Amino acid sequence: MDDQSLSDSSIVKSSATTESFHVISEPAVLYLGTPVVLITSENEDGSPNISPMSSAWWLGWGCMLGLLGSSKTTENMRRTGECVLNVASIDMASAVDRLALTTGSNPVPSNKMEMGVQFVPDKFGHAGLTPANSDIVRSPRIHESPVQLESKVHNEYQYGANNPRVRTELVTFEVCIERIHVDSRILVEGNPNRIDPDKWRPLIMSFREFYGLGDKVQPSRLSEFPEYYYKHPKFRGPES
Ligand SMILES: Cc1cc2nc3c(=O)[nH]c(=O)nc-3n(C[C@H](O)[C@H](O)[C@H](O)COP(=O)(O)O)c2cc1C
Repeated sequence: MDDQSLSDSSIVKSSATTESFHVISEPAVLYLGTPVVLITSENEDGSPNISPMSSAWWLGWGCMLGLLGSSKTTENMRRTGECVLNVASIDMASAVDRLALTTGSNPVPSNKMEMGVQFVPDKFGHAGLTPANSDIVRSPRIHESPVQLESKVHNEYQYGANNPRVRTELVTFEVCIERIHVDSRILVEGNPNRIDPDKWRPLIMSFREFYGLGDKVQPSRLSEFPEYYYKHPKFRGPES
């Protein structure tokens, strides 16, 4: 191919890719596809509560959680200052679905009533999940979850107070992760500190439906340096 035909073909390509199919859209929710987390917390009588949620993002050994102000989990986290974040795998989809439209709040808050939410005092029994004792916090871990993060609340922030499109009270919690339990079957062979993304199959909630991840799309430059560079040097061990 000579220089002239090369530049001609690139012009054709760029004009084709600039054609826009976008329209102005106002989705009611922006559930664009995030992992499902089951938050376990302790009720005032010492019994456990479980809440499915997916407004979570991770930074270092911490996490930001977006929750309804009216949820039992919010009340419990405020009172106890702790929780466990049990990240759901695709195998847990039906258990997560059984917990949808349930609350540990009695009476059911009015903003949840129109959605058909029902009070369920025993969420573990209702979902068919198994509690396991935590090491550091009082809330139990969920045995079936391959990644369980014992966490403490470090901050609570108001969310959306000046956003006219936010329809109900929302809060965000910043939690610090204190201990992580990982199912050894999703680890990189011979390294207890590395989760193998080819083995870890998180459950994804996208626009209220459940999905898994597809295959790896292409090699990633970010994964070319050792993962332990992300770790604070004080916490690097022999296996990093
Ligand atoms: C897959 C899924 C994801 C959810 N994500 C969130 C979320 O990110 N934040 C939230 O406040 N509620 C979320 N919910 C709704 C809560 O589970 C719901 O408010 C529930 O009543 C909370 O339980 P609790 O009142 O016992 O804490 C989600 C529900 C499901 C099924």
